[in-house]
Amino acid sequence: MTSYTSRWTIADALKVHADDPTTTMPVIDQNFPTMDEAVMIWDTGALRNIHGQTVTFKGWYVIWSLAVDKVDLTNSNIYDEWHSRNNGAYIGYWYSRTGNGADWQWGGRLLETSADIRPHEWSGGLIMREGMGNVVDMFYTSEADSPVNQSVPSVASGQIYADANGVWFGGFETTTEMFSADGVHNANAQQDAYFDFRDPHPFVNPDDGRVYCLYESNVAGMRGQFTIGSEEEGVLPPGFSVDAGAQYGAASIGIAVLDDGAYKSGDFSRDRWTQLDPLLTALGVNDQMERPHIVFSNGLTYLFTISHHSTYTGNLSGPDGVYGFVSENGVFGPYKPLNSSGLVLGNPSSAPYETYSHFVDPAGYVQAFIDTLPAPGTDPNNPDTYRIGATLAPTVKIELDGDRTFLSEVHGYGQVYAQAAWPVGKAWDHRPAS
Ligand code: FRU
Repeated sequence: MTSYTSRWTIADALKVHADDPTTTMPVIDQNFPTMDEAVMIWDTGALRNIHGQTVTFKGWYVIWSLAVDKVDLTNSNIYDEWHSRNNGAYIGYWYSRTGNGADWQWGGRLLETSADIRPHEWSGGLIMREGMGNVVDMFYTSEADSPVNQSVPSVASGQIYADANGVWFGGFETTTEMFSADGVHNANAQQDAYFDFRDPHPFVNPDDGRVYCLYESNVAGMRGQFTIGSEEEGVLPPGFSVDAGAQYGAASIGIAVLDDGAYKSGDFSRDRWTQLDPLLTALGVNDQMERPHIVFSNGLTYLFTISHHSTYTGNLSGPDGVYGFVSENGVFGPYKPLNSSGLVLGNPSSAPYETYSHFVDPAGYVQAFIDTLPAPGTDPNNPDTYRIGATLAPTVKIELDGDRTFLSEVHGYGQVYAQAAWPVGKAWDHRPAS
């Protein structure tokens, strides 16, 4: 199989524009509801199968969230608590009979503290192990800031249980590290003190039936010493000069493959994974492509990732939101940016940080969390007016139309739709029903 490293070029990114109504999140109501007053949550994902479909378990919807407990319930320090949330991040879960935002019940921590080999639990995915009854795997990022930046895609496994009253979990007592930044396929801490290496997203490739894992990474090489050439530039307009700072944008989307047979036995240890060349780089464009995930639809392969306004480099800019790329040739590309620019759904310029960490499911439903929402009519860039979110945003739907996407529906806060029920009586097809 031919594999390409596709590029998000400077010329592509020059086409990114905020506030196109087909690629912009709706402005969220200042009076949005909070799921639980005692906890602040951000990156969230639904319980799914290895094919990407959101599943219910015994009639319950289940989601995981990065979380911190609120220390000050009077909310007087909420701004500080929210902005230091990564220092205490753990993975918690919610369950609901309906998948409606108002019904989510907070279940507390998912992993036992004995599983914590580093202080922070960051993003990943919660997956029912195929053909293994109630076994679930929480793929996540084990993270520490000191003494050096460490970030290791990892997995903890357990069991899911449910009865008429709710959902609970067993196991999750230990963590297995999957792979580390190697300085060859992606930048390691020696090459880039700010390297990103996180957010594992395992899936089955419908073309070969093998299990792969996507992750956020940076281009291998010394930070600040990249050359931006014609491949990174694309076709630039006359007179456009690439800013010297462009080379500080070195995001990539990495991919590793799991040995055949290892998925079934739940062996996700380091010697079972092989890292491959990255699927996509944004060298010269942006320094972060986070939470990469994949959707197979109508014979096309869609690669989605979230990115920030603040991580664009050089003369480029774009909104916080979800970006995407499409391949006619399966997982290994080549990919071209959706909507020509890559932008799929950005925040409106009147509320530039209202949502983040968008996740697109195979039916096109997009879930995100509310970050900070300016009071209507105030300066959108003045944080003094912000209401902190720390809860789920309205779910929206996008239509995937070849290499274009369109915002088509707005649903309830934290609404989740399932594509399948678990357990199932038959083996899964590799390609999810479209
Ligand atoms: C996205 C993200 C992820 C990371 C987590 C840490 O919002 O930056 O890349 O795992 O948040 O909070």
